[in-house]
Amino acid sequence: MKKIIVALLIMFASSPAFGDTLYLKATAFADPLTGKMVDDPAIVIEDGKITAIGRSENLPIPEGARLIDLSGKTILPGLIDMHVHLTESPTIRGYRALGLSVHTRTIMGVAAAHKTLLGGFTTVRNVSASSYSDVALRDAITGGVIPGPRMFVSGPPVGITGGHCSDNNLLPSEYDDHGENVADGPWAMRKKVRRNIKYGVDLIKTCSTGGVFSKGTTLGAAQGTVDELTAIVEEAHARGMKVASHAHGTVGIKNALRAGVDTIEHASFLDDEAIRMAKRNGAYFSMDIYNTEYTLAEGEKNGVLEESLQKEREVGTIQRESFTKAVKAGAKVIFGTDAAIYPHGDNARQFSRMTRFGMTPVQALRAATTLAAEALGQGDNIGALTPGLYADVIAVEGDPFSDISILEQVDFVMKEGVVYKRDGKVVLH
Ligand code: ARG
Repeated sequence: MKKIIVALLIMFASSPAFGDTLYLKATAFADPLTGKMVDDPAIVIEDGKITAIGRSENLPIPEGARLIDLSGKTILPGLIDMHVHLTESPTIRGYRALGLSVHTRTIMGVAAAHKTLLGGFTTVRNVSASSYSDVALRDAITGGVIPGPRMFVSGPPVGITGGHCSDNNLLPSEYDDHGENVADGPWAMRKKVRRNIKYGVDLIKTCSTGGVFSKGTTLGAAQGTVDELTAIVEEAHARGMKVASHAHGTVGIKNALRAGVDTIEHASFLDDEAIRMAKRNGAYFSMDIYNTEYTLAEGEKNGVLEESLQKEREVGTIQRESFTKAVKAGAKVIFGTDAAIYPHGDNARQFSRMTRFGMTPVQALRAATTLAAEALGQGDNIGALTPGLYADVIAVEGDPFSDISILEQVDFVMKEGVVYKRDGKVVLH
């Protein structure tokens, strides 16, 4: 039955009509690959994929193609955010979030997905969600039922009893409330990884230190042993899945890298050895250096626990210093924001912080395009405007290489050849 429903969803997709050819032209193309602005670009798009790109004077409009004229605008590849939580809300935090059912969260996720897409993010990695609400969202988007970014999802994170991402420490013991993928010991961890794969995730999320937003956890304290983390990684890699580990403290960052995880989330307390290990492994740092500003300004009224605000005060500046160090050392730093801590759709606000703390605009753009696509193992599908890739295209006004903050005002959004925003306005299907 489930299979039939999925098949129906796919049949009614708002994806491009088969045989549909588009010809998109603009005034400039800000190419993250070369770091250069190209004048008068044109793209030919067939069935949602790019078939040709060049200067419009050398690339004639194919017969019967539909013209999308973005004169006055600068085009770029659709953006990728490697760390979001679409089923969480910035304004319902701490104890207030206990009242949210999975159904409510999923409906919130529908709205968040649309806002994120309209913000220019055509792909996201959703790293933890209650039950499999993120799997449901992903499938609804792929099936054309709702608009949203292409999603790669982790489902519920796998981690230790009382752990930052796997458990809920808000209630006293008589409630016996615990996260659905809490496990202790390597084999128990493997079983949870298998459970997530069974229910349709694309990657595995774990936590190797405490966190800001969890009650009773410490940023510096490691969570999970190297044995447990290695079991997660082995099991995931054997099934073709990547592993993302939340880690603030240095010991937990190194434990995760020793275990062979693919991405370190937050990476707040980096020392030279941790950076060297990541470079040796080819691991990526996904560093959410914008959200600290939102939490310190708005957190209290949104219900964030005082304990979390205190941890945020301790970590914000250090994380930014680590970001600068990692960029200087040539580590692979990808664009991940932890959207849900601040409002969905504002993801691009992080770009200006990334340039303020050490990246060039080109590096920041690559972090959210080519490098992010590579970290997802999706370099052949997304992250650039080159033939063979999906036609994920956004447009802004001006030159993002001289002022990256213009990405906060995305004017046009196309995903797989379908237009979702035009002249700054929503396009409904
Ligand atoms: N989800 C993360 C945690 O709770 C968010 C950390 C946000 N703060 C920061 N400075 N990046 O630990």
